[in-house]
Amino acid sequence: MPFAVEEEIIRHDAVVLGGGLAGMRAALEAARCGADVAVVSKVYPTRSHSVAAQGGINAALGEDDSWESHAFDTVKGSDYLADQDAASILCREAPGDILELEHMGVIFNRREDGRLAQRPFGGAGFPRTCFVADITGHVILHVIWEQSIRDSVATYDEWFAVSLIVEDGRCRGLVAMDMRTGRLHTFEAKAVILATGGLGRVYEPSTNGLICTGDGMALAYRAGAALMDMEFTQFHPTTLFPSGVLITEGARGEGGHLLNALGERFMSDYAPERLELASRDVVSRAEQVEIDSGRDVNGCVMLDLRHLGRDLIMTKLNQIHELAMDLAGVDLVTETVPIRPGMHYQMGGVKTDVDGRSTLPGLYAAGECACVSVHGANRLGGNSLLETVVFGRRAGRTAAQEAAEEHFVNLTPAIAREQAERIDALLSRSDRGIRTAALRRELGAAMQEHAGIFRDAAGLGAGVDALHDLKNRFEAVSIQDHGSVFNTDLVSALELDNMLDLAEVMVTSSLERRESRGAHARRDYPERDDDGWLKHTIALHTPDGPRLEFGPVTITEWQPQVRSY
Ligand code: FUM
Repeated sequence: MPFAVEEEIIRHDAVVLGGGLAGMRAALEAARCGADVAVVSKVYPTRSHSVAAQGGINAALGEDDSWESHAFDTVKGSDYLADQDAASILCREAPGDILELEHMGVIFNRREDGRLAQRPFGGAGFPRTCFVADITGHVILHVIWEQSIRDSVATYDEWFAVSLIVEDGRCRGLVAMDMRTGRLHTFEAKAVILATGGLGRVYEPSTNGLICTGDGMALAYRAGAALMDMEFTQFHPTTLFPSGVLITEGARGEGGHLLNALGERFMSDYAPERLELASRDVVSRAEQVEIDSGRDVNGCVMLDLRHLGRDLIMTKLNQIHELAMDLAGVDLVTETVPIRPGMHYQMGGVKTDVDGRSTLPGLYAAGECACVSVHGANRLGGNSLLETVVFGRRAGRTAAQEAAEEHFVNLTPAIAREQAERIDALLSRSDRGIRTAALRRELGAAMQEHAGIFRDAAGLGAGVDALHDLKNRFEAVSIQDHGSVFNTDLVSALELDNMLDLAEVMVTSSLERRESRGAHARRDYPERDDDGWLKHTIALHTPDGPRLEFGPVTITEWQPQVRSY
């Protein structure tokens, strides 16, 4: 039976794809600007991955701090690849956004004198990370979601987007499946905002939730929008073994130490000034060198919080205490915990300007799925939550304003029918084909092996071959659930299709960039090469794989310097 297509068209001025922080903030702003706005999300919004953000959100609020200092740290952290106009906006607007969140109801931790508390984070010259214990993302997401209900933002929860709709060179809407019924619906919109978060699950393990499959990036890429800087993948220094679950940088911010098998605080050899609070790429590489040199404990190094004391751990780091206990059987108050670097964040994404416009008219993006670029080659901890609220707000405002100048073009369900045919073809394959889960595990392992912390041409070339092989074998993936109601077997296959396209862009871009910068560490090109590679990598979709181009980096204030911590 052909996959069902709904004939009736759903119309909103603006449709936001993704219900995490960037999406909710964009929707709220668009609604406040007078747009009729809807959020389409494959999970209930408060289950979005923003809920897992632990350690905090940055803003220069301290007496001796300044947004310029925050911007400089961000640019230095990015290994000078960030666009400095965008980084300046991020840091200049941060204090206003934090105060707005506080006024909305986010119960940030406070100092004794009643001012907002701020903890030190890696690569930051001042303690400037505001936090709610170690559940910061959870609290902010719930507050913004409450606000969106108050402002009557419509939500389509548990709807999975399968395609954008582009007509006459403009994004006019999208096709999404209502997972409860399996029916495909056409959304017509004057503006579409992508806020689908990251793609962490192209690696295994990852700190990212299982839902982080890069859907928005893949839809944008196939629709003709440019992706940018996809070779830059962040490995967080402290992830639990073996699950990959995040142990917040806040643990080191509050004074935690990293120890090798000899009990040495090895960071003194790699970052003598900032030690455990060097930027993430530096700390993760140092850990990997210790592990590869045999100074490891079963493939890990140890995080030691014992000296912080029970009171601090149970009040400011309570969630990671629980996670370490539940997932590793370790009591952080009395024991050290084995940790290792793990995939955490994608610096690249849908190329946008500072108001969220992608290279495809009518399509906007914000948050981790976008690349504006404020993180360049390496993001500082605490800047991602900040990016979601600053650039979510800016994208929502711009989209609403520009939507007001547009009109509906009366789409038909033609694209939905094409998508139904694609899904029918998937469903009609033999039941005895390859299972999605098996191929997804292989993808994660291949990315970890070939595009990990340290890379080289041989490994990345093998990664490109592995991706071609996986993409070929995807053609034999079979779906054993032929039902229409909550067909998660089908959704997983569509997610894998998205991940394979993005992983191909990531390894291809990584192979092309023949230098080491930020999180992209090439053993065969160990130095940063500003003459050859101070430029963004831009990837465009072709039927034969990505076509790469290069674009300039915006430098306004800070010329590239030697980067040390
Ligand atoms: O370590 C953390 O709490 C993560 C923060 C971030 O990625 O910004």
